[in-house]
Amino acid sequence: MNAQTLFACEDIHLDLGGREILHGITLAVERGEVLGIIGPNGAGKTSLFEVLSGRLQPKRGRVLFDGQDITRLPLYARARLGIGRTYQTPVVPDELTVGETFKAARQAYEPYLTRFDAEYGAELIGFKVSPDEPTVKLETLNRRKLLLACLLMRRPKLLLMDEPAAGLINSEVDEIDHLIRLLSKEMNIAVVIVEHRIELLDTIADRVMVMDAGETISQGSLADVLADPKVHAAYFENVVEGSLDG
Ligand SMILES: Nc1ncnc2c1ncn2[C@@H]1O[C@H](COP(=O)(O)OP(=O)(O)OP(=O)(O)O)[C@@H](O)[C@H]1O
Ligand SMILES: [Mg+2]
Repeated sequence: MNAQTLFACEDIHLDLGGREILHGITLAVERGEVLGIIGPNGAGKTSLFEVLSGRLQPKRGRVLFDGQDITRLPLYARARLGIGRTYQTPVVPDELTVGETFKAARQAYEPYLTRFDAEYGAELIGFKVSPDEPTVKLETLNRRKLLLACLLMRRPKLLLMDEPAAGLINSEVDEIDHLIRLLSKEMNIAVVIVEHRIELLDTIADRVMVMDAGETISQGSLADVLADPKVHAAYFENVVEGSLDG
């Protein structure tokens, strides 16, 4: 891990349901850097995030953050250190309003965060929904923004974002694009982003890594990996399988 590195994992192996899903994944990101991860469905991208965020323990390998080995730290301890994670499906608390969600997020932190911290998170990303609005009434973009604002009030150093543009229309993807640039380039937050929308990665990712069947098959600039025959093969084989199955 060099001096610039904020976050890294080395040789991550993960078993799920009796089989090995990840076969030795290694990555590193610097402060403020955006690393994009792409790969066909089932490649193991979300499973990798489970390991990086601390929801699942790897069979082998290490996770390092800010000079510390955090491999054995649970999710909440990693969150306290400054690692935030967003999920493929933005699940908001059913019974709560927006204001109550912010309050719950503030109070889940120790020591409690202030109202000012909650407002800071919301203002930063331009989340302007009334505190009285029930969260279940929010559209996908605002659900994602609400959850992101709850993470930002903790002032994270790293965000792990699993398909933040899923389910959004193009103009909304532009907003996510703007947001991620703000977080990475203006606030120096490192971002690891799994995303199928290539147009989003094209504008925000400093580097891209491609996973297939639990391995890293290519990395470099987006243009480089898209020109890599191994990447073509991974996607093409998947399409053929899909069309045969479906
Ligand atoms: N809890 C589990 N038990 C057993 N196998 C699992 C479990 N979760 C995921 N898998 C398997 O692990 C592999 C990787 O799944 P994962 O969800 O990480 O892929 P992904 O790259 O995120 O895919 P997508 O692009 O569809 O989100 C798949 O073969 C999946 O079926
Ligand atoms: Mg996934």
